[in-house]
Amino acid sequence: MIPEGKGLYKGGKRKGVIIADRKLTIITEKVKKSLKLKGWEVDVIFVTANEGLKTLEKAGQLYGKLQKLGANRKTILFALGGGTIGDTVGFVAATYMRGLRWVGLPTTLLAQVDSSVGGKTGINLPQGKNLVGAFHQPILVLCDTGWLKTLHKRDLVSGLGEIIKYGLCFDRFFFLRIQKNWKNILNLKAQVISEAIYSSVKWKIRIVNQDIHDLTGLREKLNLGHTFAHALETMTDYKKFRHGEAVAYGLLFCAHISYQAKKISFAELETIRHLIQQLPLPKISKEISYQKVFAHMKRDKKNLDKNLRFILLDGIGNSKVSKTVKSTEVLLALNYVKGEK
Ligand SMILES: NC(=O)c1ccc[n+]([C@@H]2O[C@H](COP(=O)([O-])OP(=O)(O)OC[C@H]3O[C@@H](n4cnc5c(N)ncnc54)[C@H](O)[C@@H]3O)[C@@H](O)[C@H]2O)c1
Ligand SMILES: [Zn+2]
Repeated sequence: MIPEGKGLYKGGKRKGVIIADRKLTIITEKVKKSLKLKGWEVDVIFVTANEGLKTLEKAGQLYGKLQKLGANRKTILFALGGGTIGDTVGFVAATYMRGLRWVGLPTTLLAQVDSSVGGKTGINLPQGKNLVGAFHQPILVLCDTGWLKTLHKRDLVSGLGEIIKYGLCFDRFFFLRIQKNWKNILNLKAQVISEAIYSSVKWKIRIVNQDIHDLTGLREKLNLGHTFAHALETMTDYKKFRHGEAVAYGLLFCAHISYQAKKISFAELETIRHLIQQLPLPKISKEISYQKVFAHMKRDKKNLDKNLRFILLDGIGNSKVSKTVKSTEVLLALNYVKGEK
């Protein structure tokens, strides 16, 4: 049942449009029924949810469908699916008729712990990912852990990558709990998965609230491990690694750079390695060479100056932005991640 409040049930005729991942017909039907019971008029648009949804063309098709359904400024959009649905529907909500309200109903672990929170919405351009978008906060995000039961194992591991990020970046005790419980997270053990989602979202909200538009450098900390992750994803055409899988390797990479900068001890580095190496991740192939990784990192949009810009650990559970990482440090960290130390 969708809870009351947040203006959802206020004022006149209530019209909602659920834009859902076409794989999720049963959940969509349940959400639709629950809204109808509350007197809503509800339409559904099913879309194919993958990175290909995040285009100007697909957003344009959604504007057309909303127009046909008679959506107006009072209509509330419901984004039901993973991060690609949330990013696209949030963007459509931000731009259609100068902005509609929207509700996030994230159905992947990655979306529940990360992408549904914070109001970053957007689509890709041929030139790169998330290049067009808007900050547009949802009026409500609802995470139902029951929705995760049908997820592919790899999508659970992908979400776990981001969960580990929060522990490493902000909360040593959370990291220690993940270290102990990561199998239970992947097995969706009720208490453990709820706690992991709650703690992740708590940290994301805490950080975003202090730097909503990503300007002060605080929100940038949420990108721990992402420079390396983006390099891995781009070099393999987004085919080999799920986002959070690449992030898991990125975390290990950053841990090694942090160790070289004497910001974490060898024992801490090995603790992190032990956790990441137990996860069922696709292997990094020999083709992922230092030269290619370095070239991709330099192109990363976060590198505002000629020095490579990394978020580094400052002990487990603390992080800081560093601007001066040398190429030799990158080489050593890559070898470590590949197990070629
Ligand atoms: N806005 C942000 O702050 C932010 C943060 C991180 C990532 N992202 C974006 O999120 C996207 C990745 O998110 P994602 O991994 O959730 O992608 P996704 O939406 O492609 O979902 C992954 C897969 O899971 C399937 N799926 C979704 N829910 C399911 C369920 N309950 N049961 C079975 N299958 C289900 C989908 O059909 C898809 O095949 C990327 O585009 C990334 O850029 C955005
Ligand atoms: Zn991420």
